[in-house]
Amino acid sequence: MNAIERVCKYLQEAGTYYLATVEGDQPRVRPFGVVHLYEGRLYLITGKVKAVSHQIAANPKVEICACKGGDWLRVAATLVNDDSLAVKTSYLEANPGLKAMYKADDDNIQVLYLKDAVATFSSFSAAPETVTF
Ligand SMILES: Cc1cc2nc3c(=O)[nH]c(=O)nc-3n(C[C@H](O)[C@H](O)[C@H](O)COP(=O)(O)O)c2cc1C
Repeated sequence: MNAIERVCKYLQEAGTYYLATVEGDQPRVRPFGVVHLYEGRLYLITGKVKAVSHQIAANPKVEICACKGGDWLRVAATLVNDDSLAVKTSYLEANPGLKAMYKADDDNIQVLYLKDAVATFSSFSAAPETVTF
């Protein structure tokens, strides 16, 4: 399993992760859920109406944190918006529960992929391990 697959699997198994953005000098953080691996890129999904989307537009540098059992994962990355209908369709097909909220061609759905990602797997019992993708 390569680095991006490991990170995707970890986030999916954790179920919930926390996405931090910045708004001026104020950090903002909120729970996020579903990630999607598509054509070698790791995507998250949100709505363009949300404050988080506006914050990413102003500053696409983010950090993600998730934990599982006694270990945790942090991923620092820059998010890139992807308007491709194909990736949005794939996202919703892989996660049918999202169809109650989004349609692949609606005006609100937004998918973004992680670029220049630095992911660190940590635990209380072993040295941190950093991977990049
Ligand atoms: C478990 C859980 C998972 C969530 N997953 C997502 C998600 O993947 N994408 C999303 O846009 N909102 C998700 N939300 C809702 C956001 O946390 C919520 O809309 C939040 O207010 C967005 O941040 P903002 O208010 O700064 O825009 C989730 C909420 C919970 C409780």
